[in-house]
Amino acid sequence: MTTVPVPGPPRLPLLGNLPAFARDPLGFFTRLRGHGDLVEWRLGPQRSLFLSRPEHIGELLTGIESEFRHPELGWAFKLVLGEGVVTSEGPSWRRKRALVQPAVRPRQVRGYAETMTDCAATLARSWRPGQRLDVRDEMLGLTQRIAVRTLFGADTAGRESTIGPAMDIAQRAIGDEFRGVTLFLPPWLPTPGRRKLRRAVAVIDREVARVTGIRRRSGEERDDLLSRLLAARDEQDRPLTDKEIRDEAVTLYIGGHETTGTTLTWAWYLLSRSPEARDRLTRELDDALGGRAPGHDDLRLLPWTEQIIKETLRLFPPVWLMSGIAKERSTVGGHAVAKGTVVWSSQWSAHRDARWFPDPEAFRPERWDADVAAAVPDHAWFPFGGGSRACLGARFAMVEAVLVLATLAQRFHVDVDKGEIPPRTGLTLQPSRPVRGTLRAV
Ligand code: HEM
Repeated sequence: MTTVPVPGPPRLPLLGNLPAFARDPLGFFTRLRGHGDLVEWRLGPQRSLFLSRPEHIGELLTGIESEFRHPELGWAFKLVLGEGVVTSEGPSWRRKRALVQPAVRPRQVRGYAETMTDCAATLARSWRPGQRLDVRDEMLGLTQRIAVRTLFGADTAGRESTIGPAMDIAQRAIGDEFRGVTLFLPPWLPTPGRRKLRRAVAVIDREVARVTGIRRRSGEERDDLLSRLLAARDEQDRPLTDKEIRDEAVTLYIGGHETTGTTLTWAWYLLSRSPEARDRLTRELDDALGGRAPGHDDLRLLPWTEQIIKETLRLFPPVWLMSGIAKERSTVGGHAVAKGTVVWSSQWSAHRDARWFPDPEAFRPERWDADVAAAVPDHAWFPFGGGSRACLGARFAMVEAVLVLATLAQRFHVDVDKGEIPPRTGLTLQPSRPVRGTLRAV
C-alpha cells in the first residue's frame, strides 16, 4: 500500500470542486481522467477519489457491499421503490437479490422475447414512410408497453395507460428531486411536483395490488415476471409478501424501462449519422431473417445488431456515474482510502478512454467484433455496473434492445434531423433536446 499523495485538480476552500462538477459533470469527469488513473477531488468538504483504470473500477464494483456502501438514495426513491433490491443494503438486499434473480435468468428472458417482438411489430405496423416522429417518445412508449406486459401479462390489458404513466410520473419526480432547488427542500414540503408524485404512487399501489390479488386468487402460473415473483421462495421457504412483490415489480419497471428506451433512442440517433453501420444492419437483417419477425433463437444470427447496441451503451451509457463510500479504512489500486471517502467512477468518462477505445468519440460497432473486443480489459466497458450489485436486468435489456431494433429496422430507417444532440445528465443520461426524425421505408 502506498501513501504517496494522488494528483487532483486545484480546488476552492470549502466548496472544493463542487462548482466545476455542478456546471458540467460530464466534462468535469473527462478532465479528471486527464490528471491520472487515481485522482483526488472534493465535493464540497467531501473527500473523493475518482478511478479511471479498469482494474481499479473492478475493485470498486466488486467491493460494493463488502468494503463500500451505496450512497443514500433519498426519500423519493424509497417512496416509489419501497424496500426493493435497489434500495436495500446488507442481508435484506442479499435475500431480495436471491429472490428476484430467478425471474430474470436467461431461460426466463427467453420467455419474454415474444412479448418484446410483438410489441415492436405492433409499433412498426402503425408507422408510415414519411411520418415525423419524436424518437424518444416512441421508444419510451414501446419499452413502457413491454415492461408492463412482461411484468403483469394480460392482467393489465387495457390498463397499460393507467399503470405505465403513473410509473413514469413517479420516475420523473425522483429525477426532479435531484435537480435544482428541490434538492435543498425538506422532504415534508408539499410542492406541486411532490403532490403529483404521491398521487402517482397511490395509483401504482392500487394497480399492483389489484393485479397481484387476481393472480393469487386464480393460482394460475403465467410466463410473466409477476408469476416468477409469486413463485419465489427464500432460504426459509418463505414467499414474498404483497408489499415485497409491489416493491420488486416497481423496481424492475423503473430499473428497466427508461434505461432501455433511452438506449434505443441513442441507437437510432447514432445509426442515422453512420450510413455504413446502417447499411450493414439492413444486410444482416435481410440475410438472417428474410423479412420474418425475429425470435430469441435468431439472436446468434444478429451479431452486428448486438454490436450496435453495445457501442451505443459505450457512447451514451444510461447509468453514467457510480460511487461507493468506504465503510472502513481501505485500499484501491494499492492506495490508502480513508473511511468515509466517496470513491467514484464514470461510465461516460471511462468509456472514452483512448487506451481501450481508439478514436473514442467515433461510433464504431466493429470495435465489438470478437477478435478486437478480446483486447478490451474487464471493467473498461461497464454500462451494467459489475460485481455483486451488477444489473439484474442486463440480459433482459440486451435481448429487448436487439429484438426491438431488429424488428423495427427491418422495415424502417429513422432519419434523425441534422444537428448534434448533446446528452443531459440526470438520474440517467438523456438527450438534451427532442430527437426528431422522419421514417423512411427500408
Ligand atoms: C440498458 C439498460 C440498463 C442499464 C444501462 C442498466 C444499468 C444498471 C446499473 C449500472 C446497475 C448498478 C447500479 C448500482 O450498483 O449503483 C443496475 C442495477 C439494477 N438493474 Fe439495471 N440497467 C438496465 C436495464 C435493466 C432492466 C431491463 C432491469 C429489469 C428487468 C434492470 C434491473 C436492475 C436491478 C433490479 C438492479 C439492482 C441490482 C442490485 O442492486 O443488486 N435493469 N442497472
